[in-house]
Formats: sequence, C-alpha cells, structure tokens
Amino acid sequence: MDESYYRYTIRWFGKWAWFYNFIALPLTGIRNKVSGMIDSKVKIKILDVCTGTGTQAFAFAKKGFDVVGLDLSREMLKMAEKKNKYENVRFVVADATKMPFENDYFDFACISFGLHEMPHEVRHQVLDEMKRVSRKIIVVDYHIPKNRLHRWLHVSFASLYESKYYRDFAKWDLEELLREHGLRTVKEAYGLLDFVKIFLCKRTNFCSVHQNSITLKQRH
Ligand SMILES: C[S@@+](CC[C@H](N)C(=O)[O-])C[C@H]1O[C@@H](n2cnc3c(N)ncnc32)[C@H](O)[C@@H]1O
Repeated sequence: MDESYYRYTIRWFGKWAWFYNFIALPLTGIRNKVSGMIDSKVKIKILDVCTGTGTQAFAFAKKGFDVVGLDLSREMLKMAEKKNKYENVRFVVADATKMPFENDYFDFACISFGLHEMPHEVRHQVLDEMKRVSRKIIVVDYHIPKNRLHRWLHVSFASLYESKYYRDFAKWDLEELLREHGLRTVKEAYGLLDFVKIFLCKRTNFCSVHQNSITLKQRH
C-alpha cells in the first residue's frame, strides 16, 4: 500500500478539517437527496465510509437509521463528534480498505465524495470492502462530463480546491468502475445541476475486477 497516500490524506484533511463544513456547504441539498433514496421504514444499519465531518451520516441518522461513520482522519472525525446531536450515530477511526466489520454487517454502505480522494488501486479496494460489508452500496461523487470541453472546464475548476487524487479520478468512468465491480445501479440521481451523481447499487455475483488484473479503461 502507498504509505505516502495515507500520510498525504491525514495531513491534507488535518489541515482542512476546521474549514471543511464551510467548503461543503453547497452540498447541503445533496445530503437529504441521498438519504431520501432509501425508502426503508424500519431501523436499518448504515455505514458511511469516508464520513469526514459526518454531514451525510447525520442525514441518515435524522431518518432514524443506525449509522456508523468511518474515516482515516481523526481531525475530521473530531469535527463530526462536535456537531453530533444524534444517539444513533457513532464514529470510528479506520482505513476503508480494511474495515473492522463482519461480512454483510450493514444494510447499506455509502461513500460520498470519498472515491476521488484516493489512488485508483485504493478505490478498488474500498469498493471491494464496501461490497463485503453490505449488499447495497451508495456512491456519491463528481459527475465528470463526457464532452471534452465540459470535462476540461469541470476538471480545471475542481482542481483549484481538490486534493492531488482528483485529476486521476476524473480520467476514469465511475459507472464503468461500479459495473466492473459487479455493482448494478438500481436508482440514480443528480445534484448541484449535474455536477454530482448519486448511484444506488446492488451487489451481484458478476465481477470482472481482480486485484492483479484490472480490466478497466481510462478515458482519453
Ligand atoms: C472529501 S471528504 C468527504 C467527507 C464526507 N463524506 C462528505 O461527503 O462531505 C473525504 C474523506 O475521505 C477520507 N478518506 C480518504 N481515504 C480514506 C481511507 N482509506 N479510509 C477512510 N477514510 C478515508 C478523508 O479522511 C476525508 O475525510
């Protein structure tokens, strides 16, 4: 595993933690849209992977679900703990590539704005871990336009504030990544016009990605 990625991520989010809630304000409307995609009336268990300062976790908690928010950055989690007013949320410091939970422990595992914060091989491991701990997966992240000019504008803008992994994320097709992990999209939605895309997926038995033979193609 790339040690410099861990060092970089902990340092990067350690620096931004106090300011993150402010930066993420434009995403406020997306939080309820994401939690609204789960129509369960019963108390289900949700894992919020790369939870950061916990805003998405709180949107799930507001619906009465039992939520665990997981993150690598203690500084981000400190901010989450400060904001927390729910009894049905707890936070754990852990690496999303090695989650401390049994197989199928959760009803849903969600990752919002986390996949663009890691190298590509880590992205694969995180999706594998999410599939291990839950049958249903929600992925929320930037929707990278297919049109070259729009993509250039999008990437140039987001690169102004994003971490060093974002540019690599923008080269890949997220839908294809999910498909190749055997994740079948059953609901999808957009946020912030179409700047953000939300996928609700179910795990299938099909999976064409293996640790040593990544078959995915980069966009050109
Ligand atoms: C941009 S923030 C997203 C926070 C939150 N989910 C949101 O929607 O606002 C990305 C988070 O991913 C976390 N992260 C990155 N790599 C991780 C890993 N391998 N395991 C756990 N958390 C990780 C970072 O620490 C950071 O808090």
